[in-house]
Amino acid sequence: MSSPRWAVLAEPNGRVHAVEIVDQNTKVKGLGVFNPTTTLSQVAMGEEVHIGQKSLIRLPPRLPELNAGLVRRAQTISPKDAGFIVARLGLGPGDRVLEAGIGSGALSLHIARVLGDSGHHVTVEPRPEHAEVAHVNLERARGSWPATPHHDHVEGCIEDVTDQLAALCEAYDGVVLDLPDHPPAVTAVAPLMAVGARLVCYCPVTQQLERAWEACETAGLTVEWAGELMEREWGRASKGGMRPVNGPFGHTAFLLVAQRR
Ligand SMILES: C[S@@+](CC[C@H](N)C(=O)[O-])C[C@H]1O[C@@H](n2cnc3c(N)ncnc32)[C@H](O)[C@@H]1O
Repeated sequence: MSSPRWAVLAEPNGRVHAVEIVDQNTKVKGLGVFNPTTTLSQVAMGEEVHIGQKSLIRLPPRLPELNAGLVRRAQTISPKDAGFIVARLGLGPGDRVLEAGIGSGALSLHIARVLGDSGHHVTVEPRPEHAEVAHVNLERARGSWPATPHHDHVEGCIEDVTDQLAALCEAYDGVVLDLPDHPPAVTAVAPLMAVGARLVCYCPVTQQLERAWEACETAGLTVEWAGELMEREWGRASKGGMRPVNGPFGHTAFLLVAQRR
């Protein structure tokens, strides 16, 4: 790929704007109307640019920047959990990954980043208005990164589209289920998993976790790990030293990892 079609502009407060580099006046939410090609043609990475009243730094469109500037609709999976999911599934180039629902595509960006251009990423989503947002985010990734996987998207509930999923890919190396009702989805996808493949269920509440665990066992999968990840940020204290920052210490979801053996 020659040069990224997307630019990332960061405000001093950390707010990030993803801007498509087109040669026409364009309205960018939060920045107003400007021509990205002429405005950014002389702005190197790390340099400052003024747009309207705002002073911004141009940065390369890496995963954290695209994630910070994500278009959002459905609730998203945070980098804290996405990093764990990618690691526990053991994802890398060439893998075949099934993800439902795609929602806003936040997790999809993490998956696309590690699969490279030899991977196959299949997403499922019953709500087209959610998938539309995810496709915008994935298109930014494709226009920014040197290698992204082959992507197929299937509209529908995962338990209703297994024939299509099986036709797209002989067997999946990793599956992620971020949807409200895990048992029908687990039952539907377990036969599509390769031997050794892992499945992750993302479960905001404990009832979902318990039902996902039971469904995995019933489907013949071995539960490897279940739990939650706690992230506690530290900062510099005003009078010296380091301490946990004031702020919410929140819950995202419980995660369950199961393997087909
Ligand atoms: C919380 S969102 C997923 C967010 C996504 N993981 C992200 O990081 O942006 C849950 C999605 O699951 C979809 N969904 C609900 N039931 C489903 C099913 N049976 N099969 C596939 N997707 C489903 C919803 O429409 C919704 O978009």
